[in-house]
Amino acid sequence: MALVNTQKMFEMASKGGYAIGAFNVNNMEIIQGITEACQETKSPVILQVSKGARAYANHTYLVKLVEAAVIECPEIPIALHLDHGPDFETCKACIDGGFTSVMIDGSHLSFEENIALTKKVVDYAHDVAARGRYITVEGELGTLAGIEDDVVVEAGNESYTKPEEVIEFVRRTGVDSLAIAIGTSHGAYKFTPEQCTLNEEGILVPPALRFDILEAVQKELGDFPIVLHGSSSVPQNYVKMINENGGQMPNAIGVPESQLRKAAELSVCKINIDSDLRLAMTGTIRKFYNDNPSKFDPREYLKPARANIKELVKHKLINVLGCAGKAEECL
Ligand code: G3H
Ligand code: 13P
Ligand code: ZN
Repeated sequence: MALVNTQKMFEMASKGGYAIGAFNVNNMEIIQGITEACQETKSPVILQVSKGARAYANHTYLVKLVEAAVIECPEIPIALHLDHGPDFETCKACIDGGFTSVMIDGSHLSFEENIALTKKVVDYAHDVAARGRYITVEGELGTLAGIEDDVVVEAGNESYTKPEEVIEFVRRTGVDSLAIAIGTSHGAYKFTPEQCTLNEEGILVPPALRFDILEAVQKELGDFPIVLHGSSSVPQNYVKMINENGGQMPNAIGVPESQLRKAAELSVCKINIDSDLRLAMTGTIRKFYNDNPSKFDPREYLKPARANIKELVKHKLINVLGCAGKAEECL
């Protein structure tokens, strides 16, 4: 089957109390690891490409690699999505260049400027007469802490989404989904140890996400698809693997998976995960070279890295997102 947009996936996710995984892709091994996990578990999936990924791997290479995954995984719906589209021109290039979904990130702008920019992208993306296909658009209200491409938001300068603004934003822009800020953030350092509490097993537990804001947004928008960015859980086995093999990642802390599961059962239909896959890949490669100092064939370290990405994605699909087995109903 061909690439799909996110309409049907979100409709079914909303009805079924699950979320679609949106995983960032930058090269062949990451694409293979993710899509093999989805094919084996019969899960719908969103493969997303950032501005940085396009700069690193080249737009055409990424589109063609994703198209290869579509051929190799004929039983699952795959959407190709622009992550954090920085401007109209980048969104247009992706819409014209084979993507089926885009995000326009105007979250750093004023409310009115964000609406104007988002609407401009929506008007272009939804013009089916122009290209014979409907491209879904994600907008964002509220800002997350952390780094994405060249936008750096210091912890403490993030701002939660204001539930009283969401209806007007959705109505005036015509977006298909809305990313909101409820306490997640980008990267591997989402919470400081000081923000966390120690549980009985001696494990640091981060502060809860702002489910009150999510519920207030849901009250305003009903079943409208909500997106969570910055949703990596920062698996401690991979942080340990990195630190035991020459890395230095002290105090890397993510969002507990139980909280993401709860969000997926509410109106969150798309959960963005990137850092967790990076940790799996980096940890595996660091360990491989520590264990095998004389090896020099990249296939020898990329193979276990790809296998570990696949295992991690499988775990997310089954135990966190709840979308395993949902491919057919999303077609
Ligand atoms: O939110 C950003 C994603 O993790 C993509 O990261 O901009 O380094 O490609 P990147
Ligand atoms: P993480 O850094 O938590 O993986 O978030 C990824 C993301 O939001 C991509 O848009
Ligand atoms: Zn993001």
